[in-house]
Amino acid sequence: MRHYCIETYGCQMNVADSELIAGILEDDGWVRATDAHGADLIVVNTCSVRERAADRVVGYLRSLAPLRRARPGLRIVVAGCLPQHLGERLAERLPDVDLFIGPDAYRRLPELVADPSRDPHFALARDRGETYEDLSPLRADGIHAYVSIMRGCDRACTYCAVPFGRGRERSLPAEAAIRATREAVESGFVAVTLLGQAVTSYREGERDFAALLEALAGIPGLCSLRFLAPHPGDLSVRLLEVMRRHPVIARHLHLPLQAGSDRILTAMRRGYTAAEFVDLVARARRTLPEISITTDIIVGFPGESDEDYARTVEVMETVRFDSAFTFAYSPREGTHAQRFLADDVPPEVKQHRLSAVITLQERHSLERYQARIGTTQEVLVEGPARGTPDRLFGRCSDMKAAVFSPGEAEEAEEIRAGEIARVEITAASSHTLKGVRRR
Ligand code: SAH
Ligand code: SF4
Ligand code: F3S
Repeated sequence: MRHYCIETYGCQMNVADSELIAGILEDDGWVRATDAHGADLIVVNTCSVRERAADRVVGYLRSLAPLRRARPGLRIVVAGCLPQHLGERLAERLPDVDLFIGPDAYRRLPELVADPSRDPHFALARDRGETYEDLSPLRADGIHAYVSIMRGCDRACTYCAVPFGRGRERSLPAEAAIRATREAVESGFVAVTLLGQAVTSYREGERDFAALLEALAGIPGLCSLRFLAPHPGDLSVRLLEVMRRHPVIARHLHLPLQAGSDRILTAMRRGYTAAEFVDLVARARRTLPEISITTDIIVGFPGESDEDYARTVEVMETVRFDSAFTFAYSPREGTHAQRFLADDVPPEVKQHRLSAVITLQERHSLERYQARIGTTQEVLVEGPARGTPDRLFGRCSDMKAAVFSPGEAEEAEEIRAGEIARVEITAASSHTLKGVRRR
């Protein structure tokens, strides 16, 4: 028997692609190894979005060198965004790799790993039509499944490497998205997250993202329908209306702000102003008062002055996000920003701004989480809480994490992963709600 293992870096799309790769390999007779030491094939699915993400991948691959020496038959494959983005330049840094394969070429994986030659192969041809709609991902057990409804991105934000790794945008046909979601639910996944780099640009003929979401919301047995990530530049009023009509759709929008200065937003080519962003949040909260809004923020983009940075803080103060991923800008090869804009914010200024937005966000998160104290939330149970097995862990409809005691002993036996518990929130930290289950 031939054993494989997959190590995944990067975003949820890579997690979903690793499940796709697992499906492709197992169809070809491969069996999952418990870890890298027991594997004949190691697939490392990589991310190129920030320098640090790329460095981590390279560090991990170099750490495999002793294993490679100990097991002469071992094959190492680098998949995903990094080889697609950097090609031969990555290969120069990684002499021990057998195959570099891009996100459009996974169908060829079995055939390519079967080739015994020791020269590295490059399977980096782009295929604008590839959506893998006919293939089934192999998901880990649990209650939650990803369904990639789009691949690629046509947005070309000036800092972003994603389009280099993922290529042009394409949408999964709606029928295939409905089929994939239905199949996931039928095999026991009661929560589904639709994935795309900018899902709000989903289009298939007359069907836009709001229409697709509405079609999926009606699938029987589905308890929670989520999506990542909408783009603030094309989030429609209709989408908010669809969300309002269908409580099965999570009360959550991940709306990447990136920056609060219009000058920087223009330089990033984001396609909205700070005022438009703030209006959008206000409209979303009017339509769905219980919604949580999370975001991504970049500090230290080329040319970001103290004044520009102050605008980011201002938007954060106005919106008060429920949580945020915050990043210091790092130039990515080939992007417009890397080629044409000087990376002129000194590292210590970037670090200082980053720490400040993190501290500010912690304060806002705590405030937003504590505002839930005293309310009763419907929590989709995922399983026992880590570290405190007498408690359960789950997510509220607005995606906040909740840890709760299951109530009386006989009730405790009743509630299982995949079921919805009514939880009275009694305390909150900036990342987790705490509570007690109520009848
Ligand atoms: N498609 C998503 C973003 C995907 S990348 C969107 O448009 O919203 C995830 C996040 O990484 C981005 O939102 C951005 O905040 C951050 N990021 C991307 N490129 C970066 C860079 N070069 N430097 C720092 N952060 C970056
Ligand atoms: Fe990158 Fe912009 Fe596309 Fe997001 S929308 S993946 S930030 S190019
Ligand atoms: Fe995702 Fe990183 Fe690729 S964020 S799309 S894995 S570059």
